[in-house]
Amino acid sequence: MNKKFGVKILGTGLYFPKKVLTNADLAKMVDTSDEWIRTRTGIKERRISERNETASDLAYMASSEALKSSNISPEQIDLILVATITPDMFFPSTACLLQKKLGINSIAAFDLSAACSGFIYGIATAKAFISSGFYKTVLLVGSETLSKITDWNDRNTCVLFGDGAGAMILSASEESDDVLSVYLGADGSYSDLLFMPGGGSANPTTIETVNQNFHTMKMQGKDVFKAAVPKMALAAQKALELSGKKLEDINLFIPHQANMRIIEAVAKKLDISMDRVFVNIHKTGNISSATTITALDEAIKTGRVKRGDLVEMVAFGGGFTWGASVVRI
Ligand code: ACO
Repeated sequence: MNKKFGVKILGTGLYFPKKVLTNADLAKMVDTSDEWIRTRTGIKERRISERNETASDLAYMASSEALKSSNISPEQIDLILVATITPDMFFPSTACLLQKKLGINSIAAFDLSAACSGFIYGIATAKAFISSGFYKTVLLVGSETLSKITDWNDRNTCVLFGDGAGAMILSASEESDDVLSVYLGADGSYSDLLFMPGGGSANPTTIETVNQNFHTMKMQGKDVFKAAVPKMALAAQKALELSGKKLEDINLFIPHQANMRIIEAVAKKLDISMDRVFVNIHKTGNISSATTITALDEAIKTGRVKRGDLVEMVAFGGGFTWGASVVRI
């Protein structure tokens, strides 16, 4: 295991639940308006999973697409990583449930929890396993059903989030390395600004915790906003430095789709014009660990980027966590 391998990105895929929830629909549920949501966030609609549709279901659909675009069979995968904050259940991991749905067994599978930065943390993990020779082909998924931990009576949060999944297949290469750099960071001292208090060992589920709505997301929106912009800009700069590339070498920037104003502020800080920044938040809302990968897949499918282009992905989320990665797709 002394040999170092490069990473080749073989393919990507995505899946969104069919059900669309528009801003007009939300205005019937809480005291809000399409105008408020659009101007404050850029979001027009988001996808919502069915009651019986789980993170592993969405992950399965996105993974199937990624396998097809990579032209490999599930049996060729030797590690499954799922980034999620909305697992099907505490355990078994969503990665194990996905493994079962893919009809493969024996290979390693585990979940990764880094909130909205989960996919970038996943790229770092996949790269480490592949470059060390530990595993050859990794299925990396970001899958979220945030609608299931949303307080649908809280207008401060319920307008922001959506459901979806994206997948990427990365494999060992002796010729090239498509993951040029990854930079990660975290600061747990901000853990009380964006979190879900209930269900874990701090507040095991009881009738009281349910009555107090501990099973839904809590967020100090303004504070999250303030921290997200500098940390995302810092992560993007660091990952760029580590990649040895210059700003002008990057064909497309894919920021975490949390809020259009955050995206614009980060672009401004980095001095990148918005025509080099991919945005799909208007139709997805914030889907946490699935935003960067679904955006990347959409950018590939719509021809915004082509094989060989350099893409920088950058994210920020609960924890706080942040990270960025420069990849060749
Ligand atoms: N509809 C109408 N009014 C609303 C709504 C709503 N959906 N939500 C809040 N308001 C009201 C507030 O109650 C407040 O009213 P008040 O002045 O009478 O008290 C007013 O609008 C302004 O509220 P602010 O919190 O000041 O609004 P702000 O401009 O900060 O926007 C928002 C709020 C959109 C949440 C913003 O702070 C934000 O996007 N923060 C980042 C949060 C985020 O993205 N979190 C996701 C996870 S982390 C990540 O992914 C980066």
